[in-house]
Amino acid sequence: MAPAPANAPLTVLGIETSCDETAAAVVRRAADGSGEILSSVVRSQLDLHAAYGGVVPEIAARAHVELLDVAIKQALTEAELDFDALDGVATASGPGLIGGLIVGVITGKAIALGRGLPFVAVNHLEAHALTARLTDNLAFPYLLLLVSGGHTQTLIIRDVGVYERLGTTLDDALGEAFDKAGKLLGLSYPGGPAVEACATRGRPTIALPRPMLGRSEAHFSLAGLKTALRHEALARSPLSEKDVADLCASFQEAVADIVRDRTARAMEIYIERLGAQMRRALVVAGGVAANRRLASALEAVARKHDFRLIVPPPELCTDNAAMIAWAGAERLARGLANDLSAPARARWPLDPDAPPALGAGVKA
Ligand code: KG4
Ligand code: ZN
Repeated sequence: MAPAPANAPLTVLGIETSCDETAAAVVRRAADGSGEILSSVVRSQLDLHAAYGGVVPEIAARAHVELLDVAIKQALTEAELDFDALDGVATASGPGLIGGLIVGVITGKAIALGRGLPFVAVNHLEAHALTARLTDNLAFPYLLLLVSGGHTQTLIIRDVGVYERLGTTLDDALGEAFDKAGKLLGLSYPGGPAVEACATRGRPTIALPRPMLGRSEAHFSLAGLKTALRHEALARSPLSEKDVADLCASFQEAVADIVRDRTARAMEIYIERLGAQMRRALVVAGGVAANRRLASALEAVARKHDFRLIVPPPELCTDNAAMIAWAGAERLARGLANDLSAPARARWPLDPDAPPALGAGVKA
């Protein structure tokens, strides 16, 4: 079926299975480019993975098989629509855990084929990047800080499909660093919320390094901080409750300094590239955006550099399918549907032309 004309309203089913959330949603994009979430269903698999202290890819893929059709049905029911009302199907096709991606991609393609609908292979990172246009009707360009369990990047979002990566992590993602810190200190999984809660009972009295501070590019590095935390924890072993709280507070303070400095550098590069007159907005996405200490650090840096700060609501910052449906609608409105040979991709950089960051591992 030919894509709907660019100025027509579009109703899109979104599917997300790239990590440990099984999600389906229906989003409508109006002809004027504004968006509305008609339903958003997220089935977290957290309890399936908690015992292992991290996501087990094979368990995740199997759980997606079990949960996805139920989530899709629920999303349509809550939107009070059936398949006939859809103008397209969008599926997160990467980057992520390949088993789960394949489940989502095959399901999305099957619905598209069966119903004669256009199929859109959505980059999960692009979906995070475009969410602020759904929530705040934000115009291009803007700066994105993506901080999740798998990704830590700053990008200039110039248009749909036009992304310029400024910074990435050379080693661990920010959420991953929180999760590893939590695990090291014996806290519950995922570590991020646990470390934040514990930090409120402690004081940031333990000296920890802030890698990359002041560097001229905008990259991040968290591995050295994690190692230093381990050494400080070992030196104090056995850890008292106060030790754990102080270690959490000190770790979180170091991360806040790193995020403040690296984001400030990305803002400077944004201004250098786009000119001082260009409108300035910083969008924060990813689960780590929920951290209040980091949020206040970002508020300070946005104020200092005169950027409007936009943090979508938590349920749209973390993984969900409304953002996938929305990115699909943005693509469909531009005639950017995919054919059914579009693959699931474990790796899928948003800016393939970005120069490799020295030492960067799989997350670059
Ligand atoms: O975006 P997200 O839900 O999933 C992906 O990784 O794609 O992000 C999850 C990550 C986890 O690493 C979790 O520990 C972290 O976000 N996180 C936090 C907080 N809440 C979630 N990190 C720090 N502070 C928090 N309050
Ligand atoms: Zn994500």
